[in-house]
Amino acid sequence: MNFPRIPQASPGANYRACAGEIDAAIRRVLDSGIYLSGAETAAFEEEFARFIGVAHCVGSSSGTDALWLALAACRIGEGDEVITVSHTAVATVAAIELCRAMPVLVDIDPRSFTLDPEKLGAALSPKTRAVIPVHLYGQSADLEPIFKFCRQHDLRLIEDCAQAAGAFYRDQRVGSIGDAAAFSFYPTKNLAALGDCGAVVTNSPELTTEMRALREYGWRDARRLSAGPGRNARIDEIQAAILRVKLPRLDENNARRQEMAQAYSERLASIDEIVLPAEMKFRRSVFHQYVIRSRIRDALVQHLGDAGIGTTIHYPVPIHQQPAYARGLARSSPANQAEPLPETMSAAAEILSLPMFAELDLSQVEVVTATIRKFAGKK
Ligand SMILES: Cc1ncc(COP(=O)(O)O)c(C=O)c1O
Repeated sequence: MNFPRIPQASPGANYRACAGEIDAAIRRVLDSGIYLSGAETAAFEEEFARFIGVAHCVGSSSGTDALWLALAACRIGEGDEVITVSHTAVATVAAIELCRAMPVLVDIDPRSFTLDPEKLGAALSPKTRAVIPVHLYGQSADLEPIFKFCRQHDLRLIEDCAQAAGAFYRDQRVGSIGDAAAFSFYPTKNLAALGDCGAVVTNSPELTTEMRALREYGWRDARRLSAGPGRNARIDEIQAAILRVKLPRLDENNARRQEMAQAYSERLASIDEIVLPAEMKFRRSVFHQYVIRSRIRDALVQHLGDAGIGTTIHYPVPIHQQPAYARGLARSSPANQAEPLPETMSAAAEILSLPMFAELDLSQVEVVTATIRKFAGKK
C-alpha cells in the first residue's frame, strides 16, 4: 500500500510536536513503578475537569467505556430507551447496547450533522430515559433545545464529546452542560493519547462515586470488596501522563485546525459541486474533521487518492443500516419507518473528510484545494 503524500490524519505528527516532553513523561511513569490508578491519573482528572469547567472527571479505558460508565451510573439498563443519532461512530450506539438499553435513532440537521432537536418529540416513549447528542466532527449539537426537552421529560442528557474536546456551546465548553459527558482520547482525536482511553466529566458527586466503582469491579469503600456491579474500565498511568503533556496545547491546536479550515473554505468557496461546512451561530467547530458534501464525492475520492491525498468517508453506512443494528432498534425508533432518516441517508452518500490535523500546513491545504479545483474545472 502506498502511503498518501498528505494523510487525512496524522497521530505521528501530533506526537512529534512534543516528543521530548512525552518521552520524559513516559519515562517518569516507568520509573515510578506505578502503572495504574496513581498520581498521573489523579492529576489528569483534576486538570481535565478544570479545563472543561466541571467539578469531576473519571478517566476510562476508552470513549466507548466512558459512554458506558455515564449510562450505567445513571442506572440505564434493560427495558430503557436512549435517543441518539444514526450518523455517528458505531461506539455511541454500542455503548447503549452494552447497558442492554434500546437505541432510538433520530435524524440530523443537514448543516451541522448533529441531532435535530425537532425530531426528539416523535422519538419519545414511556421507556425513554436519556438523550445522547453527539458533537460530531468538532461541532456542538444545538444543546439548548435538547437540554429543555430533557428537563421537560425528566431525561438524562449525556453528551458524546468524543470529537469535540475544547469546543464551546455559547460560552461554555461542551461537556459542561449535560448530566455527564464522555470523551475519547483515541490517537486521532483533538486531544489524543497514544493508545486507547477516555474520560467522563460531570458536576454530580453521586454519578462520580458510581462511575469510580463501575470502572473498577464495583469497588466502592474498600479494594477487593465489590459493593455492586462493575468491570475493568480504567485509564492507565502512561496515557494519563501523555494527556497531561497535550492538554495545555489543546486550545492552540484547535485554533490551528480552525485556521486551516478557514483556508480550505476560502479556497473552495466558488465550486458549485461542493458544499462547505456550515458556520453555526454560537457553536464554532474545533474541526475534528473538515467535512465537505458533494454529489460527485466518489469520483473526487478517486481523484484525490490518485494525487496522493488521503480522505475518509466518516460513516458511509448509517448505524440503522449496519447488519449488527438494523434489526435491533427500538420499535419507536424513527429509523424503523418506511423511509427512515432522509438527512442521515443523504449525508452518508455525500460526505467527505479532507486532511485535517493540527500540524497540517497551509502549503498542504493549497495542494489539496488546487487538486479539487482542477478536478472541478476551476483555475
Ligand atoms: C462520536 C464518537 N463516540 C464515541 C467514540 C468512542 O471512542 P473510543 O474509540 O475511544 O472508544 C468515538 C471514537 O471513536 C466517536 O467518534
